[in-house]
Amino acid sequence: MSQTLETRDFSVVSRRPLTDDIMEFTLVPTSDEPPLPFTPGAHVTIRTPSGAMRRYSLINDGAAPENYVIAVKREPASRGGSESMHASASEGMVLQLTAPENEFELVEAPRHLLIAGGIGITPIYAMARQLAGQGKPFELIYCTRSAAETAYLDEITALPGKVTIHHDEGDEDNFFDFWDHFEKPSQAHVYCCGPAPLMEEIKALSGHWPEGRLHFEDFKPVEVVRADDRAFNVTLAGSGRSIAVPADKTILEALRDAGERTVSSCESGTCGTCKSRLIEGEADHRDMVLMDDEKDSHIMICISRAKSGDLVIEL
Ligand code: FES
Repeated sequence: MSQTLETRDFSVVSRRPLTDDIMEFTLVPTSDEPPLPFTPGAHVTIRTPSGAMRRYSLINDGAAPENYVIAVKREPASRGGSESMHASASEGMVLQLTAPENEFELVEAPRHLLIAGGIGITPIYAMARQLAGQGKPFELIYCTRSAAETAYLDEITALPGKVTIHHDEGDEDNFFDFWDHFEKPSQAHVYCCGPAPLMEEIKALSGHWPEGRLHFEDFKPVEVVRADDRAFNVTLAGSGRSIAVPADKTILEALRDAGERTVSSCESGTCGTCKSRLIEGEADHRDMVLMDDEKDSHIMICISRAKSGDLVIEL
């Protein structure tokens, strides 16, 4: 059975372009109740105008917030969430947001090394501001393609502490060389958010560091539909309704298109929100959530499909 995702209504009160592809949004609750506080590294999940749920880091000070500030990069290759924020989340639009969650929390440490790539700057910028405000030592390395594609360039340049902004022009030969920072393990805690190649590089360089010193955050949507996927039908046991799942859509998208109420969050098989009971059929499990002993009886409908034939799920 799917879980219910609790949301609150927030209205878009301003949008501000940070670069050609990155838009900052300020969101305030539609009710008089103030937004819940949060700590740097926290994110909210937003039902974007396309219907897809997407996670965005909160950028503003979360101690007693009057609003939530997020920044969204237009990702043409994604499944429409970011594109619909850019195209349709105009001032006055009401969006549903979950409460803030933080799986990327700053821990007490003698010093912090903050590493951001591209839009991964959003939680890292919040962390840097907090550490700077507390007078704590930190180093920030921020990698982007060019100055024109760098969100918060002026603000980050003005931060106290050791800040390096590195532009690589998209050329692998110009990628920042992190080895000096990782050769000898230090007392620092490292926080890294950015594209997968950057995070993989940091993981590879830090293999000899003590466990627990490295912290990663990755919201990049995974490719949930593959070129050789085929169409099938899914029947909802409750109503008996049969819905066609085209080759280029997920079960979740097909249900949503058919007007069925669904809940989801990551839409990439990692959070567990869309877990549904599998009544009949054989699933092609692609998630990272289900235990082996659940795989005959459950399916994550945001990412998994039918292995052969059709499926019957409880909904
Ligand atoms: S929505 Fe997160 S696992 Fe499906």
